[in-house]
Amino acid sequence: MLIAFFFADYFPFIGGWVDKLTGLSSRLERTFNDLDEFYNKIINDHLDPNKPQSDNDIVDVLLQFRKERCFPFPLTLDHIKAVLMDVILAGTDTSAAMVDWVMTELLKNPTIMKKAQDELRTVIRDKSFIEEDDIVELEYLKAVVKETFRLHPVGPLLLVRETLNKCTIQDYDILPKTLMFVNVWKIGRDPEFWKDPEIFMPERFFESSIDFRGQDFELIPFGAGRRMCPGMFHGLANVEMAAANLLYFFNWELPAGMKKEDIDIDVIPGIVMRKRNPLCLIAKKFSPSFPND
Ligand code: HEM
Repeated sequence: MLIAFFFADYFPFIGGWVDKLTGLSSRLERTFNDLDEFYNKIINDHLDPNKPQSDNDIVDVLLQFRKERCFPFPLTLDHIKAVLMDVILAGTDTSAAMVDWVMTELLKNPTIMKKAQDELRTVIRDKSFIEEDDIVELEYLKAVVKETFRLHPVGPLLLVRETLNKCTIQDYDILPKTLMFVNVWKIGRDPEFWKDPEIFMPERFFESSIDFRGQDFELIPFGAGRRMCPGMFHGLANVEMAAANLLYFFNWELPAGMKKEDIDIDVIPGIVMRKRNPLCLIAKKFSPSFPND
């Protein structure tokens, strides 16, 4: 629904009627109600007095804030639902899409996959699950993830902005209140900033101090400024941990008859840039204790 074409967005005075006629408004209402019901269920499950105390999570913390009136304004269930919506909608699809892109690039570049696995299997020993603390030392894996952010930013145009003041960019006068899209996808492939931009080369980050925290405008997969992603570290941990676990515990192969050149990078239109064709791979369990099994 977020990317659907609503007439009312473009023709505010009459568009509302058209959206009613096309059925889009009622679909929006239905979607809203479904989500609302889902958030209500999560909240009610957490309010259940029989819920084990050991399972405390972000919803418990928010409910506790509400009970103790921790804010200068009353925190309502609607506020909590809004936070849940942010975490669930903005936090899950983005991280999952990024893991897909990391695996896609590694399957297309087997030498890089081998290097990442060698690093993991040398640095980490005897673990049944790789956790956040283990990631700190994995320089190569981090560079792989960073390089994936450069080539496949899941928010290729960031969130739309509006100009506050008149400004001039390359002889174009931009008026106040103009909608502005930042093409992060293009910036990440600009030969002015990146040598051999189309090549997947994590090593480039060993010779460069460019980072994605919003200070270096050549690489802004999480955006920059006041609107930048508030879940950046959470998202990064999701991607690095998922990739580390997949690469450490499994060896990956393409299905019979498929070559790495057959892996496409087509995308589905949407706010989050996801792979159009699912990546189908064969996972072979790798046992760190018996690496030759
Ligand atoms: C790898 C994972 C993620 C990526 C690549 C990502 C990327 C982005 C981008 C590009 C934006 C727009 C920033 C801008 O326009 O300057 C954004 C906004 C946002 N992200 Fe993330 N994100 C990720 C994970 C998360 C997670 C885990 C959460 C929450 C738990 C989250 C919550 C949000 C929210 C709430 C916004 C909207 C901020 C606003 O309205 O101004 N994101 N994210």
